[in-house]
Amino acid sequence: MRFYELFLLSILLGVASSGEAMPKGEQPLSKIAIHNTILAFDKSAYIKASPFVLGLKGENTEWVTVEYGTPSPTNDDWIGVFSPANFSASLCPAENDRVSPPLLCTAPIKYQFANYSNGEYTGTGKGVLKLQLINQRSDFSFALFTGGLYSPKLLAVSNAVAFANPKAPVYPRLAQGKAWNEMTVTWTSGYSINEAEPFVEWGKQGGDQMRSPAGTLTFNRNSMCGAPARTVGWRDPGFIHTSFLKDLWPNSVYTYKVGHHLFNGTYVWSQTYSFRASPYPGQDSLQRVVIFGDMGKAEADGSNEYNNYQPGSLNTTHQLIRDLKNIDIIFHIGDICYANGYLSQWDQFTAQVEPITSKVPYMIASGNHERDWPGTGSFYGNMDSGGECGVPAETMFYTPAENRAKFWYSTDYGMFHFCIADTEHDWREGTEQYKFIENCLASADRQKQPWLIFLAHRVLGYSSGSFYAEEGSFEEPMGRESLQKLWQKYKVDIAVYGHVHNYERTCPIYENICTNKEKSHYQGPLNGTIHVVAGGGGASLADFTTIQTKWNYYKDHDFGFIKLTAFDHSNLLFEYKKSSDGKVYDSFRISRDYRDILACSVDSCPSMTLAS
Ligand SMILES: [Fe+2]
Repeated sequence: MRFYELFLLSILLGVASSGEAMPKGEQPLSKIAIHNTILAFDKSAYIKASPFVLGLKGENTEWVTVEYGTPSPTNDDWIGVFSPANFSASLCPAENDRVSPPLLCTAPIKYQFANYSNGEYTGTGKGVLKLQLINQRSDFSFALFTGGLYSPKLLAVSNAVAFANPKAPVYPRLAQGKAWNEMTVTWTSGYSINEAEPFVEWGKQGGDQMRSPAGTLTFNRNSMCGAPARTVGWRDPGFIHTSFLKDLWPNSVYTYKVGHHLFNGTYVWSQTYSFRASPYPGQDSLQRVVIFGDMGKAEADGSNEYNNYQPGSLNTTHQLIRDLKNIDIIFHIGDICYANGYLSQWDQFTAQVEPITSKVPYMIASGNHERDWPGTGSFYGNMDSGGECGVPAETMFYTPAENRAKFWYSTDYGMFHFCIADTEHDWREGTEQYKFIENCLASADRQKQPWLIFLAHRVLGYSSGSFYAEEGSFEEPMGRESLQKLWQKYKVDIAVYGHVHNYERTCPIYENICTNKEKSHYQGPLNGTIHVVAGGGGASLADFTTIQTKWNYYKDHDFGFIKLTAFDHSNLLFEYKKSSDGKVYDSFRISRDYRDILACSVDSCPSMTLAS
């Protein structure tokens, strides 16, 4: 028993310490003290789920009906969804041979209260729930608990339900490759390289289709840096495949489907998707970019409701899907799904955004909730990643970084040149990242790529978020002090950040001074950089300070995202849209010619000689 207690204690400590350090409520599953569970099986309590087999027509998202009952119902009773269905001892990591592991050492993938949509539950002791499941490589079971989330008592466990093919290739996500004419397709499956060959079959719409091989990655519990990712939050991520579709014709529409050639000779296919290839760098054509941070995920069935995630995250997702034909590329600049060490949530997120990511390149940046963990080389020593220390984000989504663990990269999209920084690693002068940022900014030929955009998760520029204002910095400390000379020298037009969950826009600014008083239509040189916070993707909103700064031009305490439209080399439209209605609430235009970019202002031109 002593070993058992020690083991339980280690899990408890792991969970408690991560819970303490995380801002409250950012992962609903962290509310459940699953390690405290007591077995209280009651013969008169029951729970059953139907149908038994899901996805008979190839669907990867299905609704199940869960019926349950107990003779002593309370308002604290809840239903946990577990996957794999056998969530008992076999999944517990044995610390040594003499450990008797606790029965429940794995968190559910979602939960809902028994009285949800059952007003009479505490009277009748009976309830019915409709829950949405996604195909994530394993079967599912449902468990009825009493005693609330903190002292769970397990009353009954349901039959298992499963997708017809749990290993099916799912949730493709496109991302720009290292070259402008390369698109990468990343997806998840249950097929290892020992049982099937992964590939993408693709070609121009209506033309011949060819096959490109895919590489396969995965990670295991030992790749996680701490709890809960290493303990109750661990779930096998399956296999993550990436294929590189090369030598694309600019703007051409391609169709593709992902497949696995099993070594028994059969094939397993996804559905067919399509995308438009990226424009040639400098190409003059209509180009539309959407940027936001901190979206998180939410459940369409209302489960895991906590901290007001549902309206924001799902609304943003729905608005993007609704307007997808008018969007060419998307940047989700950090704090991707707030799995925070509950790994099942990465599948849920990739399922939520699949209608978007399968159609347009979805480029991510790294945030604190992907990367930060003490003693692991993150710039911040907090526990915001829940022990993930960047591994799931770096593996689940492709980025054209030289080293995917160092999450900085550049990418071109026609007349745009993007430099994406990684605020969870040091960016100060003299660092590897600083050199990258300077090199990235310097490599934009502004005659070809007039629209130079800097992206990062934490606010390295300017923010009126209350926690930055309280620090007196109005930014991430050491942010603009380190980088503003570069933004000015290389004439960065717009810098966009997340992390602060709201929207705001500054004047064109350099060293705290507005360089241009115009608010809606900039003509000629900007003389500074416009800084934008677009952190209202979906996670709970952040307050502004009451201090009105000189540089703030617009604030909105709501969920939303921004859209940049380049009409040509001289005309750019910036729009901020609310996620609730998709309408524009703030906007400005930039109209200028090449000579306006070349024009010198404070610190923006190299020294010159008077000799001629
Ligand atoms: Fe963040």
